[in-house]
Amino acid sequence: MNAQLIPDELREKARAFTQSPRELFIGGRWQPARSGKTFEVIDPARASVFAAAAAGDAADIDAAVLAARKAFEAPSWGMSTPAWRARLLLKLADLIEASGDELALLETLDNGMPYRMSRMMTAMGAAESLRYHAGWATKIGGETVSISVPGEWHAYTLREPVGVVGQIVPWNFPFVMAVSKIAPALAVGCTVVLKPAEQTPLSTIRLGELIAAAGFPDGVVNIVTGFGETAGRALVAHPGVDKIAFTGSTPVGKEILKACAGNLKRVTLELGGKSPVIIFPDAALGPATDVAARGIFMNTGQVCAAGSRLFVHERVFDQVVEGVVARARALKLGPGTEPTTDLGPVVSEEQLRRVTGYIDSGVAEGARVLTGGVAAPGPGYFVEPTVLVNTTAQMRVVREEIFGPVLCASSFADTDLDAIARLANDTEYGLAASIWTRDISVAHRLARRIKAGSVRINTPGSVDPALPLGGYKQSGWGREHGREGTEIYTEIKSVTVGLA
Ligand code: NAI
Ligand code: MG
Repeated sequence: MNAQLIPDELREKARAFTQSPRELFIGGRWQPARSGKTFEVIDPARASVFAAAAAGDAADIDAAVLAARKAFEAPSWGMSTPAWRARLLLKLADLIEASGDELALLETLDNGMPYRMSRMMTAMGAAESLRYHAGWATKIGGETVSISVPGEWHAYTLREPVGVVGQIVPWNFPFVMAVSKIAPALAVGCTVVLKPAEQTPLSTIRLGELIAAAGFPDGVVNIVTGFGETAGRALVAHPGVDKIAFTGSTPVGKEILKACAGNLKRVTLELGGKSPVIIFPDAALGPATDVAARGIFMNTGQVCAAGSRLFVHERVFDQVVEGVVARARALKLGPGTEPTTDLGPVVSEEQLRRVTGYIDSGVAEGARVLTGGVAAPGPGYFVEPTVLVNTTAQMRVVREEIFGPVLCASSFADTDLDAIARLANDTEYGLAASIWTRDISVAHRLARRIKAGSVRINTPGSVDPALPLGGYKQSGWGREHGREGTEIYTEIKSVTVGLA
């Protein structure tokens, strides 16, 4: 018998949180949208409204940017020591951990992901990201520079916070992404206007309460819930914002880039992917098959680095693909709140239509469905995990990011690594890739040939805050996480002192 996964008192907490419309967090004060508007928050497992949030728009964004500017210039934050900022981030990590169950339940109700996964993401993912970035607060800085101009000089660089940062977050891992965005910005002394996705605002709103409780000065983090076309666009266009950090779709990323030209904002973009998984015949096929299946079905395929194009050497193609199909069939679909659920719904009705539309287009172009291929019975937005074969490199299902549990599998006969790399690189995207072989020379040589920001060899890999994450080609600009992901929130200033 399964123990009840979610205790009643926890459900009661979530119910209390969602009882009245949630507000915007601006300048340390909770407030409704200036327009008075709210929008509905939907539980994708039940296709029902269970909460409401303020629909912020340009006027609210303006107020939030002003509050962020004021906080940036106030001595309490502007003159804050790195050690103090580190302590605040560590405090926030502890508060998140202490509220881990509640945050995870909000996330599961809002996004649909299995509770076990949201629990791991909030505690291990978000809290550890804060702790990692807290370390950078006291470690990042400028350096002395040796210059060759005749004379006697003291030259050095200063690393300064870039200023007011607008951060736009998607709905696939709402909480951990919001936290991973604010963490490096706050570590170096920026202030933030954070806009969660309209599909999944709740855990980010709860984050605002924890930020206040941790003791961050008012206005250091402002949270404006609302739609991309209104709140998001206004944030991107705002002349008072110094940098935009965005995670989401490639078309919106391109639009943001154009909008940022107005005041030449700094921009970093973490966009879509169509990541290859390459399995050689000498690979450990059990783990490779497990990871190939998990890589595309985890979070119902709503993962930017999901391995959505599977290339298997023809000698082991049938064996691997049959294994993936068997694993797909064994997955139990259901609400994320049920302890037996492996696969939750996709996030919205729109996403359900997108994903099934892609599957239909693949079939119309000649792909064959080995398993899945359709929506599963509702009322929630469920899609059966799907494996397609007989796909070609020209099909939309192979070229475009589906962001659902849909794998396109094909075989290769080549032993020439350049040819294999060409298959893997035959995409506009370049976010991640996964290689399975016991031949370490093949693995490393292929890793160099693949145009992707993350290459994983014989492992599912993981999103560790120490590892830079981001894309080649149309998968993005810049990197998040690691030293690079912290430095992107700074400006470099050269200072030269003539000593003679
Ligand atoms: P989206 O890119 O429209 O939304 C992501 C975030 O951007 C949300 O917070 C949204 O409110 C905001 N946004 C939307 N339009 C904006 C604009 N004009 N200006 C400023 N902000 C804006 O993604 P959407 O429509 O939710 O999903 C569509 C597809 O995008 C998915 O099927 C998937 O392929 C891709 N996607 C990729 C993600 C990734 O992690 N790389 C995350 C989410 C979506
Ligand atoms: Mg959109």
